[in-house]
Amino acid sequence: MRELKIETKLFVFENENELPPNIGKLLKEAKKARLNAYAPYSNFAVGAAILLDNNEVITGSNQENASYPSGLCAERTAIYYAGAKYPKAKILKIAVVAGALQNETNQPIPPCGACRQAIAEYEVNQKSPIEIYFMGTVGNVIKSNSLENLLPLIFDKSQL
Ligand code: THU
Repeated sequence: MRELKIETKLFVFENENELPPNIGKLLKEAKKARLNAYAPYSNFAVGAAILLDNNEVITGSNQENASYPSGLCAERTAIYYAGAKYPKAKILKIAVVAGALQNETNQPIPPCGACRQAIAEYEVNQKSPIEIYFMGTVGNVIKSNSLENLLPLIFDKSQL
């Protein structure tokens, strides 16, 4: 038996002002998208904004359904739209803003496991890292330099 140790590195920013203006702008887009969340069942609204290498910004929000599992997270709504609209573009950055509708939170909300897996598909295909920024509705922002940092032991097409 031998031990396998996996390390990951994240960066914590006090607030959006500590970030470069282009990231602040992307987080603002995610905040704006969050206002379009359809979340009557969880009352938890999420917005995502994706910056592509063609300079386009694609946004998405969570879209719920009376048949709960049919709903979709903000990150996947956005990334599948980006893939559908600009199949050749590389994804440079994703910003995510999330929190309950009723109250503000400064706890950064990371993408769920299913969204990490979905983002991984794009990162693996484009062979370049996707920066991920996530926050609550106010305050701290966490940055990951790649999806891989959030999902060690990635499962991808090379294993099929
Ligand atoms: N949600 C997202 O949109 N992204 C995540 O990464 C976590 C969860 C949504 C799904 C559901 O509409 C609500 O938040 C509560 O789980």
